[in-house]
Amino acid sequence: MRVPDYPAADAQEWSAVDGYFADMLAPSDADLNAALAANADAGLPVQDVTATQGKMLALFIKMAKASRVLEIGTLGGYSTIWMARALPADGRIVTIEAKEQHAKIAHANIARAGLADRVDIRVGAALDVLPSLEGPFDLIFIDADKPNNPYYLQWALRLAKPGTVIVLDNVVRGGAVIDAASEDATIRGVRECLRMMAEEPRLSSTAIQTVGEKGWDGFALAIVEAK
Ligand code: DHB
Ligand code: MG
Repeated sequence: MRVPDYPAADAQEWSAVDGYFADMLAPSDADLNAALAANADAGLPVQDVTATQGKMLALFIKMAKASRVLEIGTLGGYSTIWMARALPADGRIVTIEAKEQHAKIAHANIARAGLADRVDIRVGAALDVLPSLEGPFDLIFIDADKPNNPYYLQWALRLAKPGTVIVLDNVVRGGAVIDAASEDATIRGVRECLRMMAEEPRLSSTAIQTVGEKGWDGFALAIVEAK
C-alpha cells in the first residue's frame, strides 16, 4: 500500500477500494508502471495523482473536448501521461516543472510512453515560465507548490477562455483546509485560492473531497463562464 499523505484509521480500506476501482476502471500498464518505478528510483516525492484521478483528468479532457492543456507542476509526468493519452491527435500539453532533475525524469517517462510529440515540458519556476506562454488553454491543471496557488489561478484566468476547465489539486489536506487561523503557507495558499474562485465572477467552481490511496484530500473544479 502506498503511504497515505494524511494518515487516518480507515486509510487501508480507502486504499483497498481505490485499488479495486483502479484495477477495473483505470488499469495500469507497462509505461505507467515504468514511470512510477523511475520516479521511485530517483527519489521523487510520491505526490503523483492516483490512477483513478489520472483517469478522471483524462475524462475531463474528453468531456471538455480539450486539445490544449496546461499543467502547472509536472513532477515525474505521471499525470501528464494520463492527460496526454486523452488528447486528440493534434492535442498538446504544456507542463511546467521547477526542478531540472524532475523534468529530466518526466521527459524520459513521457518519451517511453510514446507521447513526447504531444508534451512540451518547460523547466523553471512556474511564475517565471507562465508569462512566456500563449493561451488560450482548454484545461488547466494546477498541482505545484501550494503557497503560490493564488498566483497560478490568476495566470490560469489570463491563459483561459470561456469554457476553460480549471482543476486545482490538494484542497483538503487531511481536513486542514478549514483552519482559518492556519499559518501554514500551504493551507493559506489553498484557502486564498478557493476564496478567489468563489469571488471571481468569471468562474463557476466547486470542491470535492476524496479518500483513497493518498488518504484524505480533494480537488477544486472550475469552469470559465461565457462573457
Ligand atoms: C503534496 C503535493 C501534492 O501535489 C499532492 O498531490 C500531495 C501532497 C505535498 O506537497 O505534500
Ligand atoms: Mg497534487
